[in-house]
Amino acid sequence: MAIQKVGVVGCGLMGSGIAQVSAQAGFQTVVREVTSELVDKGLKGIEKNLARQVEKNAITEATKSEIRGRLKGVTAVEELKDCDVIIEAIIEQLPAKRELFSALDALCPSHTIFASNTSSLNITEIAAATKRPQRFVGLHFFNPVPIMKLVEVVRTIATDLAVYDEMVQFGAKLGKTPVRAHDGGGFIVNRLLVPYLLDAIRALEEGVGSVVDIDNSMKLGCGYPMGPFTLLDFVGLDTTLYISHIMFDEFKEKRFAAPPLLKRMVLAGWYGKKTGRGFYDYADPANPKPMSL
Ligand SMILES: NC(=O)c1ccc[n+]([C@@H]2O[C@H](COP(=O)([O-])OP(=O)(O)OC[C@H]3O[C@@H](n4cnc5c(N)ncnc54)[C@H](O)[C@@H]3O)[C@@H](O)[C@H]2O)c1
Repeated sequence: MAIQKVGVVGCGLMGSGIAQVSAQAGFQTVVREVTSELVDKGLKGIEKNLARQVEKNAITEATKSEIRGRLKGVTAVEELKDCDVIIEAIIEQLPAKRELFSALDALCPSHTIFASNTSSLNITEIAAATKRPQRFVGLHFFNPVPIMKLVEVVRTIATDLAVYDEMVQFGAKLGKTPVRAHDGGGFIVNRLLVPYLLDAIRALEEGVGSVVDIDNSMKLGCGYPMGPFTLLDFVGLDTTLYISHIMFDEFKEKRFAAPPLLKRMVLAGWYGKKTGRGFYDYADPANPKPMSL
């Protein structure tokens, strides 16, 4: 099957990035939001990104116009009905995703492939809301989508292998490096990253080192671009806690259990950069100061 038209549902942080890379890769792209204000907001963000690429001479003004011409923002779900692939990037709530895919299943022709960008939910459980689990995969992109090179292509036990291979190739056509992952909690990246981040918090709790010393150790000793506490503040402590609950529920292993300090910080409303406080205080964003915890 030749993929020509791509649907994206949700034009927030991730959906707008996915719609941008899809249009940039040459696909006719329809992106759906719940209100026209949110459609406009998402499309404006994409236009800003493209304008920045023109400024940097990465693309010409003419290319920018062509990319923009391939993008259509809509609010009616019916407008997605003739898409060959539909990628969902709406809120991380199972009932909302299942309801959406059930409606799309009734609307779309049998060849349409469905994909979810969920970070932590079970792809199998989302796919079970449709009558086409064999044409259902996870496509897990990373933030910011136009910049981050990875896409995890996730297969469930019900995914047809030919469909899966096609989606791996589709990931490459979007300019990403696709990796093949099974539908196990956290796929590949979070399966390895989440225990590491939780262990850094446990090390802090046990007095192994300070926030700054642990961050510097992993940056300078291991060559990581940022230390675990800087990364935790960037990802969001609320999001990390939520993912750790889901992974602990799946594996029942201590390495996925949330340390008490993480729970306390979320209860206190310290979610990281987005709330101005986490492991660092961002009152002066250019010069974050470690919190005394
Ligand atoms: N933020 C990240 O770093 C990241 C990384 C990988 C995957 N994800 C996953 O991507 C998904 C979206 O996350 P986000 O960070 O872009 O969230 P976001 O809140 O920025 O965007 C979600 C958007 O979906 C819209 N929406 C909700 N229901 C809708 C519906 N039925 N139809 C159309 N639009 C709808 C909302 O209005 C909102 O604009 C989640 O499943 C999340 O787990 C997020």
